[in-house]
Amino acid sequence: MSRIIKIFDTTLRDGEQAPGYSMNSAEKLELAKQLEILGVDIIEAGFAISSNEDFESIRAIAESLKKTTVCSLARLAKGDIDRAYEAIRPAAHGRIHTFIATSDIHMKHKLKMTKDEVLRRVNEMVRYAASLCEDIEFSAEDALRSDWDFLAAVYSAAIANGAKTINVPDTVGYTTPNEMFDLITYLKNHIPNIDKADISVHCHNDLGMAVSNTLAAVKAGASQVECTVNGIGERSGNAALEEVVMALNTRKDYYDAHTNINTTQIYRTSKMLSTITGIPVSPNKPIVGANAFAHESGIHQHGVMNARTTYEILSPESVGIYQNRMVLGKHSGKHAFQERLEELGYNLSPEELEKSFVSFKSLAEKKREISDRDIEALIGIEQIKDSELFTLERFSVSSGTSVPATSAVTLRKNDEIVEDAALGDGPIDAAFKAIDRLTSSGAKLINYTIQSVTEGQDALGEVVAKLSGPNGITVTGRGLSTDIIEASIKAYLNGVNKILKASGTGASGVPAEPIETI
Ligand code: KIV
Ligand code: ZN
Repeated sequence: MSRIIKIFDTTLRDGEQAPGYSMNSAEKLELAKQLEILGVDIIEAGFAISSNEDFESIRAIAESLKKTTVCSLARLAKGDIDRAYEAIRPAAHGRIHTFIATSDIHMKHKLKMTKDEVLRRVNEMVRYAASLCEDIEFSAEDALRSDWDFLAAVYSAAIANGAKTINVPDTVGYTTPNEMFDLITYLKNHIPNIDKADISVHCHNDLGMAVSNTLAAVKAGASQVECTVNGIGERSGNAALEEVVMALNTRKDYYDAHTNINTTQIYRTSKMLSTITGIPVSPNKPIVGANAFAHESGIHQHGVMNARTTYEILSPESVGIYQNRMVLGKHSGKHAFQERLEELGYNLSPEELEKSFVSFKSLAEKKREISDRDIEALIGIEQIKDSELFTLERFSVSSGTSVPATSAVTLRKNDEIVEDAALGDGPIDAAFKAIDRLTSSGAKLINYTIQSVTEGQDALGEVVAKLSGPNGITVTGRGLSTDIIEASIKAYLNGVNKILKASGTGASGVPAEPIETI
């Protein structure tokens, strides 16, 4: 009989720890809601003790989700456990994930504790955590470089004191599939109370084996896997959720296991993460990369035309990538637009639909054919867009090889129209300088990326601009347009608005009129 494998997603904790992937609370909440729609069983929403911001965003996610278990990480210490418990307390289903290192290297150089001391701590603190919360997961950090006998003793103590899941992390991505299989088999045979807990694995990708190691653990009997969307995470990342899920799905014959994931939501979730972080997935990334379903060689194309199964082991539709559908255009009405949104799996409120339809119509004025990818990009931006203090009215630029670049930008702030022009190192830089003068936000551009949503001359450009504010905050601004200068201005302005909102000021540093909070 096919076994159920629980999917534990740590995009918002281990994933978010990776450089360049930081998200604000509103973005984390948006992604958490999508992860619930995707069908993950547990979301590790953060590390409550690490900062007040992490604490608040775990809490907001705990308050919002109904079906998915919301979890906070905690070291095996009372203060951490208390903070994690406070953060997940409002959740319909809450979990504390507590950990301590068990490898000789970590115990000696990091914890400066002996094996006996670690074991004592496991007994005391897992019992304490279980006295607060029914659902406790215990991890032995760096398990794959730990002594196997000691590991079995530690896990056995954790289960005896109330852990319902024992997690086996390959913290430094050191193991191989065969070794992982052997360790899980060993633990099953050497932990006397193992029938009272789920076995979980958490694999890092330093040697490129995170997904294979995860699958080997499943084959040996693990019933929970920890992973991240697009495989993001510390260093080379964690096991990619979409790869693990689609491997289990495609090779049911071999693994005899299934998950609760709605696979048609995979592409959208991946896209949402790259829209939020501004970091695109590489084209050859399995499952969600732009080339994952592209057949370039003549032999392959011929085979696929005769029968897709010749060179395709899974269909793009199965992960939510729809192709060759009728495109929408400027004559498409709201009904057709809404129908397409429903086909794509979006369920927008009437107000969201209204706003998105206005954006769709204005895009249709500039772009003849609007594809599903365009709609996804449009909705992606709309979903994470906040109320904006300044909006773009118009702009004009002039540049060339022998003239300095100039941009004139006109913004609206409520009923007031403000305009300015600036010189710059290219028209985009000039426009950003004009915006700086108009908004006095003190923004500094840290990073800028541009991606094209589809192919073709009138393709939409999606710009992500990371900005820092005067008070040390970092924000991500996004903009979408068929004109890359307009997309850039919109992205920069979006970031500037976020800085102004976070600092509670409007233009010229004067406290702004009340703005809706994030
Ligand atoms: O990689 C790791 O060991 C972790 C633990 C906290 C589970 O992320
Ligand atoms: Zn990790």
